[in-house]
Amino acid sequence: MAEGAITLRQFRPEDIADIIAIEQESFPDPWTQEMLEDWLTRRRCKAIIAECDKVPVGFIISLYGAKRIDIIDIAVVPAMRKRGIARLLLEEMIKHPGCELVSLEVRQSNIPAQMAYLKFGFIVTNIVRHFYEDDEPALRMQYIHSRFRT
Ligand SMILES: CC(C)(COP(=O)(O)OP(=O)(O)OC[C@H]1O[C@@H](n2cnc3c(N)ncnc32)[C@H](O)[C@@H]1OP(=O)(O)O)[C@@H](O)C(=O)NCCC(=O)NCCS
Repeated sequence: MAEGAITLRQFRPEDIADIIAIEQESFPDPWTQEMLEDWLTRRRCKAIIAECDKVPVGFIISLYGAKRIDIIDIAVVPAMRKRGIARLLLEEMIKHPGCELVSLEVRQSNIPAQMAYLKFGFIVTNIVRHFYEDDEPALRMQYIHSRFRT
């Protein structure tokens, strides 16, 4: 994998194939093209792509409300992990005007993702039983933007 600088940009429809490839490398139960297209064509849904030497190496897909952002999906190619790319994607996402609260669900067994969220400043707010199709619980994690912390 290339060693160049990481750049971020907004999603373009032609990125779908790269997102699917990263998704398949990242999850045992990856989303299908149909599922991804269903999300990515919603009005409030936006994705940010991380590139290295113009090659997509990570993405974050989120639903943007007036004050709240829900993260739907985030992944980084295995060869480029632990280099701060997820952090860059999260930092870019919270620049959204009005962003007050970010919320997500993560598998209870997904320790690397939980560590990345905790390091960023998320806290666990509750455990949602039977959240996933295989019945695994989710941790719901939330992040209050520094602009709104008392
Ligand atoms: C979760 C994921 C997106 C993190 O991406 P990343 O680019 O490797 O994360 P970062 O490099 O920005 O890491 C940020 C912090 O998270 C923590 N972290 C990341 N990966 C970790 C791991 N495997 N073990 C322990 N801590 C980890 C570290 O504290 C790190 O900060 P540091 O390097 O300054 O110590 C990536 O592991 C991934 O794609 N996983 C598969 C898909 C997935 O599980 N997505 C989340 C679904 S909810």
